[in-house]
Amino acid sequence: MSQKLQVVRGAHDLIGSTVKRYRYVVEKSRELAAAYGFEEIKTPIFEPTAVFSRTLGDASDIVTKEMYTFADKGGDFLSLRPEGTAGAMRAFIELGLQRQLPVKWFYEGPMFRYERPQKGRYRQFYQIGAELLGPEGGDADVELISLAQNLLEALGVSDKARLEINSIGDKESRDVYRTRLVEYYKHHETGLSEDSRRRLALNPLRILDSKNENDIKINENAPSLFDSLNESSRTQFEKIQKTLSDLGIPFAINRNLVRGLDYYSHLVFEFRTNALGAQDAILSGGRYDGLCEMMGGAHTPAVGWAAGIERLSLLMLEDPLPLKPVSLIPAGEAAERECTRLAHEFRRRGFAIDLSYSGNMSNRMKKAVARGARAAIIIGDQELANKVVTLKMLDTGTQSQVSQKDLPAKLAELFGK
Ligand code: HAM
Repeated sequence: MSQKLQVVRGAHDLIGSTVKRYRYVVEKSRELAAAYGFEEIKTPIFEPTAVFSRTLGDASDIVTKEMYTFADKGGDFLSLRPEGTAGAMRAFIELGLQRQLPVKWFYEGPMFRYERPQKGRYRQFYQIGAELLGPEGGDADVELISLAQNLLEALGVSDKARLEINSIGDKESRDVYRTRLVEYYKHHETGLSEDSRRRLALNPLRILDSKNENDIKINENAPSLFDSLNESSRTQFEKIQKTLSDLGIPFAINRNLVRGLDYYSHLVFEFRTNALGAQDAILSGGRYDGLCEMMGGAHTPAVGWAAGIERLSLLMLEDPLPLKPVSLIPAGEAAERECTRLAHEFRRRGFAIDLSYSGNMSNRMKKAVARGARAAIIIGDQELANKVVTLKMLDTGTQSQVSQKDLPAKLAELFGK
């Protein structure tokens, strides 16, 4: 017997409500990003593996455990993109855009991570993201957060999200801190989880956001990164806090927020929620001033964020407003033909028209209601003879006769065009 064909674990088909929400999130964010001056970029969904392994960190979960990597027929190692920032930076360098700074990019599309699937965590998931290349840290960081905040408001989910920010400083500050931190953990090494002991040599900062109970206790007395920030890192972070307050964007400082990717410096931030269980990050990002150089380009300050579309969709209470079409309902063969003709004509004019393909009058009316139609146009032999249609409003039930020649104007009125 042949094996049942089914979707890959952790991937999903988007249909019905899911695809409506997906499209709404993408359309809203694309519109808002454009208003902030961001242009859309589409990079390939696969890249040479080195684009990610060199930039996200040898010790990061993504590179060590989660990448879909394969050799193609030519023997080149490729990876399905686990995130969008490294690919965008690869494109920036390759296309020689250094002289066009600032570069402001918006993107949306699928990302791939071999994670353990659960609610809000998938192996193929979708992100929207924004990257701003060029300006030094400060107002540009706040511009990115302002875009994120406005987007969450536009989607009606901002009351379920809280903004947490931290500074991990520049490289100099982090090197000083790393030494202090390793010294502290060495004294507590036996109490640390296995994962954290492994991280101690590779990326000790990541121990700070461990969810393991013993690690959390040990972290309570760990030295604070904040105390190791040098003067310029501190000033930059203070300026960002002041501007956020000036704009009325609420935030909290979370000293343990370090983020999982190696390319970050200075500001890191996350909009988190309590509504999705363990998957609490809905929109995350930060500054990555060193990434361009890491990839062989010139020094280029940059800041950005990405958000999981599935997580945003799960937070949305309702589906976006449906199209609310007008349903054409024929009674009799001649009326069927007339409805087909009218549907063609009105759709060409841009009106949303629903056709029920079969069934008696009452059946077709029920289908029109189920599809959320705002009105039904009923055509029978009588209407055909008198060159009129019967228009029934589905919310109030009121019925009226409209002459065929007045129908386009009536539809324009109904659709507010
Ligand atoms: P990230 O934190 O790895 O950052 O992912 C960003 C967002 O993608 C998360 O906050 C979450 O909403 C969503 N996400 C991540 N993994 C999954 C998953 N397995 N299933 C569903 N949703 C997920 C980045 O990707 C960086 N590139 C963000 C960035 C842009 N930093 C600077 N610029």
